[in-house]
Amino acid sequence: MYSGRTPFYRPDANALPLHPIIFEQAVCAMKITEHWERIYATKRPHQVSWYRRHLDVSLRLITNASDDPATRIVDVGGGESTLVDDLIAAGYRDVTVMDLSATALEVAQRRLGDDAAHATWIQADVCTHPFRSRVFDIWHDRAVFHFLTDLRDRAAYVRQVGRAVRDGGHVIVATFGPDGPLQCSGLDVVRYDAQSLHDAFGMRFALVDHLTEAHETPWGTIQQFVYCYCKLLRD
Ligand SMILES: C[S@@+](CC[C@H](N)C(=O)[O-])C[C@H]1O[C@@H](n2cnc3c(N)ncnc32)[C@H](O)[C@@H]1O
Repeated sequence: MYSGRTPFYRPDANALPLHPIIFEQAVCAMKITEHWERIYATKRPHQVSWYRRHLDVSLRLITNASDDPATRIVDVGGGESTLVDDLIAAGYRDVTVMDLSATALEVAQRRLGDDAAHATWIQADVCTHPFRSRVFDIWHDRAVFHFLTDLRDRAAYVRQVGRAVRDGGHVIVATFGPDGPLQCSGLDVVRYDAQSLHDAFGMRFALVDHLTEAHETPWGTIQQFVYCYCKLLRD
């Protein structure tokens, strides 16, 4: 029987000494990880503003993009969301969930029980994880990219997508919209409309569709989200 605690892949166990700038970035990343660990250690899944029982818009965009069970999907910053449950229930068998927070991933694994074995779980920073080249057909991110307030981090993220997604693959990214909050979980965010979100990724990402969602938080306030759905062109 599945134990409910799939070991996480931790990429930096044998890391080499770091350049000072990279060291500073690593310290910053550690602080961000601690922040998210604190959030998930102190709040139940439905006590965070981004909670939805189901990520229905994301699920629709993913199933529209490909209904092949072998589709290689990554949900970056998946946290405790039930998207992975819905993807597995829909028959997808190659789903990866990545997050900085081991606690969040453990909550999702426990909720899934034996079905957690149908997914791959990676505790890592999406901006620095050593993704293999062209390993995903679909990249999904709801409410992670907007935390990247530093241009260098955004550039690193976009490089990661360009590396990890196959040519012609699908990229779905959702951020707070122009009328969305200025912060999420106590952290500053960058808000985007469809144009500026697409601009942040560049011309290699062909914009297929975009939409706006009025997300209702568990306490009844509305947060505007913008989704961009792109196809990755050949490098
Ligand atoms: C606002 S929550 C969204 C969770 C989920 N995507 C959803 O929509 O319910 C942001 C998530 O991204 C994770 N996260 C933030 N920065 C990250 C990074 N650089 N790499 C990986 N995960 C990150 C956090 O731990 C958290 O789980």
